[in-house]
Amino acid sequence: MGSIVIIGTQWGDEGKGRVVDVYAANASTVVRYQGGDNAGHTVKIGEQHYALHLIPSGIVRQKPSILGNGMVINPKSLLKEITDLEATGLEVRPYLFIAEEAHMIMPYHLALDGLSERAMGDGKIGTTLKGIGPAYTDKFSRTHGLRIGDLRNAAYFRARLEAIVADKNAIITKLYGSTDTFDAGAIFDEYLGYYAEIGGMIRDTAGMIAAALRRGEDVVFEGANATMLDIDHGTYPFVTCSTPTAGGAAVGAGVGPTAIDHVIGVVKAYTSRVGAGPFPTELPDATGDRIRELGHEYGTTTGRPRRCGWLDLCVLRKAARVNGLDYLAVTHLDILDEFADIPVCVGYEIDGARVDVFPANVWEVEKATPIYEVLPGWRQPIADCRDFDALPVNARRYLHRVSELVGVPVCMITVGSERSQTIVMREAVTR
Ligand code: IMO
Ligand code: MG
Repeated sequence: MGSIVIIGTQWGDEGKGRVVDVYAANASTVVRYQGGDNAGHTVKIGEQHYALHLIPSGIVRQKPSILGNGMVINPKSLLKEITDLEATGLEVRPYLFIAEEAHMIMPYHLALDGLSERAMGDGKIGTTLKGIGPAYTDKFSRTHGLRIGDLRNAAYFRARLEAIVADKNAIITKLYGSTDTFDAGAIFDEYLGYYAEIGGMIRDTAGMIAAALRRGEDVVFEGANATMLDIDHGTYPFVTCSTPTAGGAAVGAGVGPTAIDHVIGVVKAYTSRVGAGPFPTELPDATGDRIRELGHEYGTTTGRPRRCGWLDLCVLRKAARVNGLDYLAVTHLDILDEFADIPVCVGYEIDGARVDVFPANVWEVEKATPIYEVLPGWRQPIADCRDFDALPVNARRYLHRVSELVGVPVCMITVGSERSQTIVMREAVTR
């Protein structure tokens, strides 16, 4: 199989969790390398739903599951997730390992995420309010970041925390005019309590991954968020604060790029977006509402209704380029079952010129008029298809055409949300 990075090609919620679940079966280790509990990944086996936010989806296969150095971890959320997963009967703690270098999300990060969004008014990003942006901002400030490993030295942690909290309180009161300040002593006690629970999971995770690779085992690197939410390659400033794209796996897991054998891009057969920012193929109409209902497009992390629209190949071409995609895993294909015509966006018109790849600047994207190619629908349920050849001819044509226009073969298709509703190609579908 080789070691694989699995990433989202669109604006998130493509179904990365269940794709990871398939490839995790043959891997020894699954690693999250960026983001935090802004992610919401789901694996469904029969009637059992597993909701993952921080913990790699590999936990469902009971594989060693690493929270890599590139993540930002809210220990309170992590403990809740552990408890929730344990309640389903999974064993969690023995399989969970946390990088010493991963940064922590602190209570003031959550507060500042909300204060900043409120202050931005109409210009807000529409974040998940999980403190992701403020935590990464502090990481890169160098002066204000706190790492999981800092908990191992209580005196060091306390001294830094006191200085940082004094600064945060000044920002909260003087900049935002709020009186909801924080007490360093209370945070210290709270976080030492978390350390008592998770301290035993802290490891040299990069060393663990290197050892697994040396033994010839395969590793799955699980991307969260998505290409179009990438801090560099996404629709800046309407992005998350990390590097979800494939290159981020090397940095955020502590491996060299040579450790990665393949990159799989997860593509939802249509497009959704939650939060603000440009979305050229959005359908703010009854069709968009219908896709939302059929696809249950409500956030697993925030419950917000997602914006829905047709598939955008300008987005996928950008994803193919910046991630070096080897394969596409096409998910939610069954959601298109009832549509007679299925438009896919094959290019944009911007200022009278034809554009094939998603532009760099949001102000350019705002001028984009999508150019559609209308593909014929299949108008029959595909939920029970377990083989590519069993799919209706127009569903196969849809996949071939998408593959052809993006220039990347399809390796996997999902036709329902349950684990078994998956077609893994023996040979990738190519042009
Ligand atoms: P998964 O892994 C969909 C979006 C937020 C917001 C922007 C910034 O489930 O696909 P943040 O809280 O990260 O600062 O918010 O990014 N966003 C996601 N949208 N799926 C996700 O993750 C997302 N992670 C972040 O809605 O627009
Ligand atoms: Mg999600």
